[in-house]
Amino acid sequence: MTLWGGRFSTKLNDQAWDLNSSLPVDQRMAIQDVDGSLAWANALHNANILSDEEHASISLGLGTVRGEFASGQFSFVPSDEDIHTAVERRLTELIGVTAGKLHTGRSRNDQVATDFRLWMLQAIPELDAAFKDLQTALLEQAEKAGETLMPGYTHLQRAQPVLLAHWWLSHFHPLGRDRERLADLTKRVSILPLGCGALAGTPVPVNRAELAESLGFAVPSPNSLDSVSDRDFAAEFLFCATMTGIHLGKLAEQIVLYTSAEFGFFELSDAFSTGSSLMPQKKNPDVFELTRGKAGTLIGMLTGLLATLKGLPSTYDKDLQEDKAPVFAATDTLLAILPVIAGALRTITPKPERMRNAIDSFMMATDLADYLVDKGIPFRETHSIAGKAVRAAGEKNVGLEQMPLEAYQALCPAFEADVYQVFDPLESVKRRNAIGGTSPKAVAMQIAECRSQNSK
Ligand code: ARG
Repeated sequence: MTLWGGRFSTKLNDQAWDLNSSLPVDQRMAIQDVDGSLAWANALHNANILSDEEHASISLGLGTVRGEFASGQFSFVPSDEDIHTAVERRLTELIGVTAGKLHTGRSRNDQVATDFRLWMLQAIPELDAAFKDLQTALLEQAEKAGETLMPGYTHLQRAQPVLLAHWWLSHFHPLGRDRERLADLTKRVSILPLGCGALAGTPVPVNRAELAESLGFAVPSPNSLDSVSDRDFAAEFLFCATMTGIHLGKLAEQIVLYTSAEFGFFELSDAFSTGSSLMPQKKNPDVFELTRGKAGTLIGMLTGLLATLKGLPSTYDKDLQEDKAPVFAATDTLLAILPVIAGALRTITPKPERMRNAIDSFMMATDLADYLVDKGIPFRETHSIAGKAVRAAGEKNVGLEQMPLEAYQALCPAFEADVYQVFDPLESVKRRNAIGGTSPKAVAMQIAECRSQNSK
């Protein structure tokens, strides 16, 4: 059984069949296909196209099909070209020719777009929960970090000391933006294509607003030609997934660096590390490297779909069948990564001493310049004076805190004995007290804000 044999004199070439068949991919939308069909049967019934009896029979049959999918009992047959065919074929086996009335006024073009959107409406909350759990893991670490100091880097050069808690939270916020993006995307997914027919709309007098509501969509689509070709939501979803991949890659890159012997800021738990087949001593951060690597694969999924969409005319073209595989793969990728990263971060051990030892007094050179600013000297000048102090200390191979007061006073008479206080990194951190800064107070406020965001 195919859904379209009438006008053909021979059957489709076997290899062309294989190329055409989308069942291996779209069988993931089985439940959504049945749910869409149940709603469509209701619409046909309301429009007096199905009698009470026919409607009852189709609904009962679809209920059975749904149960078979849910319990894994459903068996496909070789003629199932796609999930839509499989459902209708099985329904016909169960209830006979009445099944043939279900497709009245409907096309696989509006059907597949509906299934796909329904699928995504279910996937987004699942992803959101995984995002949220990773954010919670980051938050837990931030709360545990207290006033632990670590070196902050720009250009991967030692820059200024920061609180470890502040660093943890720097990976919390990107995920918050990712969640916002997905929530916003939901608005554009929640637009119902069903009732658009193949392209021109359906002749069935169906109330599409009711139909939309019954399937959990916000509104019916306003233009049938656009609706059967609109895959913006899939591209947007892939962008969201890719952006997350890049965010997770950034976090992963830092963990890879910071767990190296050279940094030694963290130690991964054995449960989230892997070994080498050759070098017995190795403890590798594979899960973070894979996370970093998968960002590249996600970019490929996004650009692949964009390239497929580019140059298509409006309405349905079979090219669009390429839309689902990358979306499913991207979802699977994120659902595979997110809980592993959350687990790895929950069990990672920070090494505060290593972090503290990596902070040298040169990282307080800005504070040295600020010290003179407090004495009324313009920052442009104090920056240069502090720079000269850095050069002098470097030449003597000592730290800024080891330079004698006379040396400072030779650079600027405003230096006094209290200058040495600026080299305390905790004091440096405390001074950065404005909203978003790294001071313990500002970070405590940030933690509270993140907590309240995450309890929603
Ligand atoms: N398998 C198709 C897809 O995924 C379903 C729609 C087929 N429509 C058609 N006119 N052949 O896009």
